[in-house]
Amino acid sequence: MNILVIGGGGREHAVIKALKRNTSVEKVWCLPGNGGIEEDAECFPVKATDLDGIAAFAAEHRPDLAVVTPDDPLCLGCVDRLEELGIPCFGPDKRAAVIEGSKVFSKQLMKKYGIPTAESEIFSDPQEALAYLKTCPYPTVIKADGLALGKGAVIVNDFEEAAAAIDGMMIKRMFGESGARVLVEEYLTGPEVSVLSFTDGNTVVPMVSSMDHKRALDGDKGLNTGGMGTVAPNPCYTPEIADICMKTIFLPTVEAMKKEGRPFRGCLYFGLMLTEKGPKVIEYNCRFGDPETQVVLPLLRSDLLSIMQACRNGTLTKEMVEFYGGAACCVVLASKGYPQKYETGFEITLPETGEGESIYIAGAKRSGGKLLSAGGRVLGAVAVAEDLSSAVKKAYALSEKISFANAYKRSDIGKRALAAEGK
Ligand code: AMP
Ligand code: GLY
Repeated sequence: MNILVIGGGGREHAVIKALKRNTSVEKVWCLPGNGGIEEDAECFPVKATDLDGIAAFAAEHRPDLAVVTPDDPLCLGCVDRLEELGIPCFGPDKRAAVIEGSKVFSKQLMKKYGIPTAESEIFSDPQEALAYLKTCPYPTVIKADGLALGKGAVIVNDFEEAAAAIDGMMIKRMFGESGARVLVEEYLTGPEVSVLSFTDGNTVVPMVSSMDHKRALDGDKGLNTGGMGTVAPNPCYTPEIADICMKTIFLPTVEAMKKEGRPFRGCLYFGLMLTEKGPKVIEYNCRFGDPETQVVLPLLRSDLLSIMQACRNGTLTKEMVEFYGGAACCVVLASKGYPQKYETGFEITLPETGEGESIYIAGAKRSGGKLLSAGGRVLGAVAVAEDLSSAVKKAYALSEKISFANAYKRSDIGKRALAAEGK
């Protein structure tokens, strides 16, 4: 089996390592990959958004499976392009990827099918949005309709902040066309849970739950980032809540997409908030989360390749997806200053990894035989152990052995989860 993976972050590195546990995998190509992924796959400098370049590569190399992981190529129709060439893909086609690509679409879907989510209003005219924001209760949440590098949702505390958000999104178009429409959403409170699931369009099988740490600084302070660390499982997500989510959210969403003529095949990510009135959807992603994947896939006991093929072929069953009983923690090492200004180009030294340890490289390049930092999030130190508290300790111990000049990490990944466990 030869596999093509599209993307180049820590998530893709985790996907590639998990796929390679299957001994029938002979070759993995990654576009564009990165200097760390090069250890595990042959990387070529084709951007994940360059659909022509990807199609040309796939036509030449004819992979047996293509795994498209990032949101942009999925929403641009990368899977459609590759399937047209006869290349089987793991990932939703463009019509299904809209569940992440348009928050207006997903909100209307949830309303139409009675899937629990925050109340919201949709605006395409900034003046109408402002008029509404003069009278609405605060805090409230303003979201750009389209993709915005994970920065399209802002919580605002008063009209002034709201007006600044509308100005940025709708008038200055800081996210381009993504801000042509916005949602103004009811502010919800409660623990957040990420649940990634495999689905073949009919059957949906949730993976082990996880918890992201989106803010840059300890104590969930500072700016929103792509994610500074994760733990799995998420202790707030009890078996009772999982049952409710299956009945009120997961199955209804997959059914709704089917009824809309947009069957979703691939990894469907449910961003949930466990409110006093029950679990509600905060967002859908049409792909694996980053850095959730880095803790979820190391806990997968089953073969990822067979699951991905079953998702593509409509043959997924619950029995195909089994997880180990332990826990995992990922501590992200970022460049100091991320998510704003930061310097890169510092040499990274990596230790040997032991049993239950992995290092997934997110932003690095190779130069003169050295591995150099090349991004905001540089890598994730991941550990698996029999319980959460051991996994957290082990991931931090691993992170201490990794060095580059301006490395920054949070020191409290897993703290909230351990508190929820009562530890
Ligand atoms: P999103 O881009 O939709 O995932 O939102 C980013 C983050 O904003 C989420 O992880 C939540 O922490 C927060 N958020 C989004 N929507 C809401 C909401 N309706 N109420 C409270 N917080 C929210
Ligand atoms: N970690 C959140 C995401 O991948 O969108």
